[in-house]
Amino acid sequence: MSDKPATSWKATVLTLFPAMFPGALGMSLLGKALDKELWSLEVRDIRGHGLGKHRTVDDTPAGGGPGMVMRADVAAAAIDAVERVGRPLIYLTPRGVPLTQARVKALAEGPGAVLLCGRFEGLDERVIAARNVEEVSIGDFVLAGGEIAAQALIEATVRLLPGVLGDAASPAEESFSVGLLEYPQFTRPQSFEGRDIPQVLTNGNHREITKWRHAEAERLTRVRRPDLWTLYEKDKG
Ligand code: ADE
Repeated sequence: MSDKPATSWKATVLTLFPAMFPGALGMSLLGKALDKELWSLEVRDIRGHGLGKHRTVDDTPAGGGPGMVMRADVAAAAIDAVERVGRPLIYLTPRGVPLTQARVKALAEGPGAVLLCGRFEGLDERVIAARNVEEVSIGDFVLAGGEIAAQALIEATVRLLPGVLGDAASPAEESFSVGLLEYPQFTRPQSFEGRDIPQVLTNGNHREITKWRHAEAERLTRVRRPDLWTLYEKDKG
């Protein structure tokens, strides 16, 4: 029997740099899952919809200013050539709504996503409005384009699909799914450059181990992510 699901999760990527794909997505467990058709990746070159002899996709910003803007008509033609069938259309941009594990989980439960990768100063605002585009950021820093961001979004989503990780990991217990950062991990050797594995982890008392790990997860979250800590405390009531 095949372990291929009846309908597999599909990512369609619209990019000016199709050679950047599958990139990281072709490696390791995700790449194996791609080979097994647990998910699929379609990459489309936006330049195929470019205008004239030079296949132009951008122009100078209305009102002046630096850089170039992707034309609305070109972006719309690239978008309209894709069969969306219920998949959200996501534009990767540093001005988007920050990506969260909750959004990633919802995407994994759907049929897939269509990802538009920008380059240049941005995308003509009219196509964002006209095609109901969801703007997503992967963090408060600026990449040279949306391709790495699209790969990050796809990797975060595909690893949650049934059968992709195998039994190796359980997404249920990891960072963000309980609202805390992960506790520290240790393995052999027992002593490394004078630092020992914490005693509590080596004495086999599982109640004590669970308690220690939870306290460490809380401590790290409080120190590193006051934003998450506030939410966590509120949820605990
Ligand atoms: N494109 C450039 N920077 C980005 C970011 N931080 N997130 C998503 N897309 C981007």
